[in-house]
Formats: sequence, C-alpha cells, structure tokens
Amino acid sequence: MSNLELEIAKRRTFGIISHPDAGKTTLTEKLLLFGGAIQTAGAVKSNKIKKGATSDFMEIERQRGISVATSVMTFEYDGLKINILDTPGHKDFAEDTYRTLTAVDSVILVIDCVKGVEEQTERLMEVCRMRNTPVIIFVNKMDREGQNPFDLLDELEQKLKISVRPLSWPINIGMKFKGVYNLYEGSLNLFSANKTKIEREVVAIEDLASPQLDKQIGERDAAQLREDVELIDGVYGEFDRQAYLEARVAPVFFGSAVNNFGVQELLDAFCRIAPPTGERATDVRVVEPEEKKFSGFIFKIHANLDPKHRDRIAFLRVCSGTFERNKFYHHVRLHKDVRFANPYNFMAQSKDVVEEGFPGDVLGLYDTGHFKIGDTLTEGEDFLFQGIPSFSPELFRELVNLDPMKSKQLEKGIQQLTDEGVAQLFSLQPGNRKIVGTVGELQFEVIQYRLEHEYGAKCRFDTMPIARACWITSDDKTKLAEYIRLKGMQIAYDKDQHPVFLAESDWMLRMNQQNNPDIQFHLTSEFKLAAEV
Ligand code: G4P
Repeated sequence: MSNLELEIAKRRTFGIISHPDAGKTTLTEKLLLFGGAIQTAGAVKSNKIKKGATSDFMEIERQRGISVATSVMTFEYDGLKINILDTPGHKDFAEDTYRTLTAVDSVILVIDCVKGVEEQTERLMEVCRMRNTPVIIFVNKMDREGQNPFDLLDELEQKLKISVRPLSWPINIGMKFKGVYNLYEGSLNLFSANKTKIEREVVAIEDLASPQLDKQIGERDAAQLREDVELIDGVYGEFDRQAYLEARVAPVFFGSAVNNFGVQELLDAFCRIAPPTGERATDVRVVEPEEKKFSGFIFKIHANLDPKHRDRIAFLRVCSGTFERNKFYHHVRLHKDVRFANPYNFMAQSKDVVEEGFPGDVLGLYDTGHFKIGDTLTEGEDFLFQGIPSFSPELFRELVNLDPMKSKQLEKGIQQLTDEGVAQLFSLQPGNRKIVGTVGELQFEVIQYRLEHEYGAKCRFDTMPIARACWITSDDKTKLAEYIRLKGMQIAYDKDQHPVFLAESDWMLRMNQQNNPDIQFHLTSEFKLAAEV
C-alpha cells in the first residue's frame, strides 16, 4: 500500500446527530474520554444555546466561540484516526447540520429511550437517507424508564424509514436496568451507575444456555434475555455489514452515556464496521480518494470572533490526494490559484498548524472572503463537488437598511454572512429588494447583531407573506421565461442568479405545480450544479 492509501485506510470521519437533549454532547465527550483524547469528563463544553436564550447575544457569541473549538474533534484509537464533526443541536441551526453531514462518511444517531424518535431526528435522518450515509443508532438514557426496546426498534424502523439490527440488547430498563448483552461478541456488560470512571465489568458468555448467565443476572432476566435473543435472531437475521455500508440497515446499541455505559461497545463496533472515506461525485466525474492529486470542498465557514478582523475560518474536507501547506491550489469557482500558509488540524482541545492533510481530514483555512459554502479546491482540474445543497428556507423577511450612509457596509455584510451560510439571500426586482430566508428565528437576530457589530450597518427585518421558496427549472427555456414573466413579483433570484418561486403557502405551491407541468419546483438547490454543466 502506498502512504496515501495507508492514511486513507486509517481515517474515520463521522458526525453525531440527535434531537436536542438526547445526549449528543455527553456521548461525544465520552467517546473522547474512551478514546483517550481527554482525561476528565466536563472538558467538552456544551455548545447548546440555553433554552429561552434566543435574544441573549452573549449566549450567541459564546456559542460561536465554542462551536469553532468543537467543530472537529480528532483522536487516535485502535490504530485509527477518528474525526468527529460536531453538529449544532439547536433547530435554528439545522441547515449548518445538514451541510456538515455532507462532509462525513458515516453518522451516529443518538436517541433518548424515553422520548423515542423526535422531530429533529426525523429530519436529520432524511438528510442521511438522501446521501446514503451509513448510520449507527445509539439508544441513550437506558437508566431512565423508557419504552420497551422492541417497540422502540419498531418506531425507529417506521419513523426513520430504515431497517434496524440490534447489536447489543438491554437487560431491563430504568431502575431495573442491569446491563447489555453484546450480541456481536457474546458477552455481558454489567451496569453500574458511574459518572466519573470508565471501568467496565464484562463477562464473556460463550453460550446463552449456560447457567452462568442465570448466576449473573438472575433466572428471570436470564430467561427473558434468552427469549429476546431468539426473537431478535428470528426477526432481524444476521447483521449484514454490507447492508449497513449501503445505508440499508442501521445497527443499534443501547447504553447510558452519562454513566459511561455502552460507549465502549459502540466505539469498538464503530471502529470495526464504519467506512473509511469513499468516492465522491462531482459535476464532471467521480473522484476517488486514492487519486494522487488533491481535491476537497468547503462545507462550513466560521466568522472570526474578533470583529476587528473580518477573516474567517473555512472548513475544508479533503476528498482525494494529499493537501500540502503553502502549495497553490485551484479555486474552481473563482478560477484563481490560492495557497494556505497556516492550515490547521483540530485536536480535541487544541489546533495545530499542519504540513499535510489526507482524504477524510478536515482542515481549517484562514479566509479573507474568498470562500463560499460548497466551493471546490483542486490541483488544476475544473470540477465541482456535488451534494452540498441549500435547502428551501422556512422564514422570510425583507432586509431594510436603516442608515442610508451605510448601504455599502450593509451590502458587503449581508453578502458575506450569506456566503457563510447563516441565511440565504434572494433579490426581488424591481428595486433590488433583499429577502433573507432562514430556517429559524434566531438567525435574524444573529444577522442583525453581526451586521451592526462587525459591519457597522443597522437594519430592520419586515415580515413577508412567503411560506416557501422553490428553485425553478424547465427543459423548455421559453416556457420558463414565460412563467417568470407571468409570476412577476413572485419570482426572486438567489445569489447565483437562479430564479426562485416565492409561494405564499404550500397550497399555492401545489396549485402552481399542478398548473405548470413543464416547470420543475425544487426544495433543495441540489439540481443547480447539474443544471450548469
Ligand atoms: P444534547 O447534546 O443532545 O443536547 O444533550 P446533552 O448531552 O447535553 O444531554 C442532555 C441531558 O441529558 C443532560 O442533562 C445530560 O446529563 C443528560 N444525559 C445524557 N446521557 C444520559 C443518560 O444516559 N442518562 C440520563 N439519565 N441522563 C443523560 P442536563 O440536566 O440537561 O444537563 P447537565 O446538568 O446534566 O449537564
């Protein structure tokens, strides 16, 4: 194997996702603890915005600081280099999470056993399905009185629309929770509530029929476990790793992150089954990670915390070849060569300048305003990575300038903030009115605050009667032009000058779809790159 191939084989890059409060932060921290990247619990700060803190700007600033630090956490374990990409739990930052999911090779989804599948879980899973991302499910909080595990598995299958296969199995739940049986290895992990230590009591059970099992967990629970395992084998069949890699089956683990329980099983199984980085589609061809020439894309941009310096950190996901410090690379969208003197790598609690990066790695690049989310860097070839979509926003407001003397600052600020992906910007003619679309209320406050503090521009947001924005295309250019002309004020343009239909309601959108069969309405911008080839 070449050095490049060895480096690729070592890397596992994944994201942890959950509905807020299911235990994502706790599990992340415990994985770092078990992985030896941190020594004490509590070292990873919660990046949650506290409930009810939507207008607390200090909280937003604090959040921004923490989320840079925990955006990527890297540690070495079992000969592997593991990169965890953090995703904001707050639903108003959902789009940030969706985009981070474009940079991972697999996902661990955390479920609260009491609450089951929640709204945000379903939406995140939809994005994983769209991208065929392999998913491992961790059912957390088994120390609480949750649902019957079989019912929970049914709920997972139904709501997440994926087949599941338990790889560990709980013995009771809540107050009576005794531990999990590792179906993969045939061993018993006995539970003791322990928030500080990471010791485990594991007993190998060669044969479930053995009386040793009764000794360990009592006759009644042993009988129940035997029955459950028989049922699991009958209903779910053998675990098929290939089906997991193809995102058809999600293996399920049970545990309690806060009690350090079930985390080691999860981490060990993850190392055994999770995929290294694979090929990626571009608008021209498929790129293999083993190709000698470097390529990668920007999936996240973070503004510098110091408002005096407007530089930003662009997160680059390496897709092929070796990225080298100080080497010139081709910025495909700008047709320009750029190089980076201080690319850095994120370790659990620090960041270090690196000389090189390999496929699977995420590097931080200082940017002075050249990058937009989705940008591709190559060693000269012209192609653009696909699958870094924008989603149709859910809230729309008109941006109104409150200080005519500062219109340049406002313009620059809103352009840069929307490049960062904080929100989407649409322009409406005549008058070049600016419509800002977001997925959450909080973004409007963030934009207003940042425009004022970083760009010195004051603005107001006026509500607009818009419920949906759909990108529109048609194979028949004349029909598209005619539709755009007819709809007049209901057509806006995104930053790349693609036409967007603004619908007042879902009903209005459906009517337009029905009455205009030659026009395609898209709720994500995924089509864009394809349309430009
Ligand atoms: P999130 O990132 O998904 O939003 O969740 P987070 O890890 O912050 O966990 C949410 C709450 O659930 C925390 O309690 C955390 O301690 C608790 N928790 C996590 N894992 C378990 C578990 O296995 N069992 C039980 N019973 N609770 C668990 P909190 O009160 O919100 O915060 P804290 O004061 O404990 O930090």
